[in-house]
Amino acid sequence: MRLLVTGGAGFIGSNFVHQTVRERPDVQVTVLDALTYAGDKTSLAPVADKVTLVEGDITDAELVDRLVGESDLVVHFAAESHNDNSLSNPWPFVQTNLIGTYTLLEAVRKHGVRYHHISTDEVYGDLELDDPAKFTADTPYNPSSPYSSTKAGSDLLVRAWARSFGIQATISNCSNNYGPYQHIEKFIPRQITNLIDGIKPRLYGKGENVRDWIHVEDHNSAVWAIIEKGRIGETYLIGADGEKNNLEVVETLLEIFGFAKDDFDHVKDRPGHDMRYAIDSSKLRDELGWEPAYTDFRSGLEATVEWYKANEAWWRPSKDATEAKYAAAGH
Ligand code: NAD
Ligand code: DAU
Repeated sequence: MRLLVTGGAGFIGSNFVHQTVRERPDVQVTVLDALTYAGDKTSLAPVADKVTLVEGDITDAELVDRLVGESDLVVHFAAESHNDNSLSNPWPFVQTNLIGTYTLLEAVRKHGVRYHHISTDEVYGDLELDDPAKFTADTPYNPSSPYSSTKAGSDLLVRAWARSFGIQATISNCSNNYGPYQHIEKFIPRQITNLIDGIKPRLYGKGENVRDWIHVEDHNSAVWAIIEKGRIGETYLIGADGEKNNLEVVETLLEIFGFAKDDFDHVKDRPGHDMRYAIDSSKLRDELGWEPAYTDFRSGLEATVEWYKANEAWWRPSKDATEAKYAAAGH
């Protein structure tokens, strides 16, 4: 099988490529990635001899048409993915998440290629802390940020292309991922690399906001379950019952590093900050028999800390620029 992975040099995409090479030697992988600030060739170094990396943009219709035409399956991870960046400059989000997805869909339609669309639980907006509800595939779309609204728009494009043009598509909406190769702008690796540098963790607002954490390996095993067993035209929510508030995450990290639990700073909150995400993944579990392997958040976090300690060469070059961006935004 010839597989095209967009965004395969980013966090989740590179882990997906590693998992695929490891577990599915019959799959021939091509990665299409623009290598933006969030993409890194070296994330694919361990599999470099088994994967073809094409440096290019998903909005480049000619290139996309050629690569999709040479594939049996497209898994579309490429996106502008960080909420804080979308608040300071939404344009790249519109360009990549909407125009880029449109460009891929047109190529998929022309060549009749199977397509899996990677999306986020943020398309559903947020939940109150005391709401017993969780997101399901029937929850109405209600995105809050430029990032999540462009992801919501991209999902709707996929649904329309499936219904109007009959493309062979599935969609997954996953909760917050953690694990190796995550850009250090994101919450968990930002705090880990701060702690390695002797800087206090930075908590937005009171730290009450809840995220439903899932290990990236579990996200990617679910994506393969959907590709192999999912029903065409369906949306599956991916989550591992990992709800934690941000304060609990920071306290756990401080404990892992052997520091006092209150040794962190409160910083300016994110405008429009979603309060809580929570996934009901019963459709994925009941229909496709998927189960997460990483059910102990603390040990998953410990392994992630070890990874960042052992791979300083991977993250160090972007640390100063990332923190300068946060300093400018008051975070
Ligand atoms: P990331 O920012 O780490 O990686 C994105 C990758 O896409 C990078 O390699 C970047 O170079 C590439 N890219 C960006 N614009 C491009 C363009 N125009 N053309 C080609 N490549 C381009 O993102 P991530 O955290 O790995 O997220 C991957 C996908 O998963 C996204 O679609 C995101 O919305 C979704 N998602 C992420 C999470 C999470 O917790 N990180 C959770 C649910 C869903
Ligand atoms: O829910 C899935 C989404 O999870 C994905 O679609 C996004 O691509 C991904 O970035 C993530 O979005 P969040 O906005 O939830 O992730 P982030 O890592 O930016 O922040 C997680 C929480 O931590 C959020 O409540 C904000 C808070 N935070 C973040 C940073 C960077 C802090 O308290 N301090 C920080 O320094």
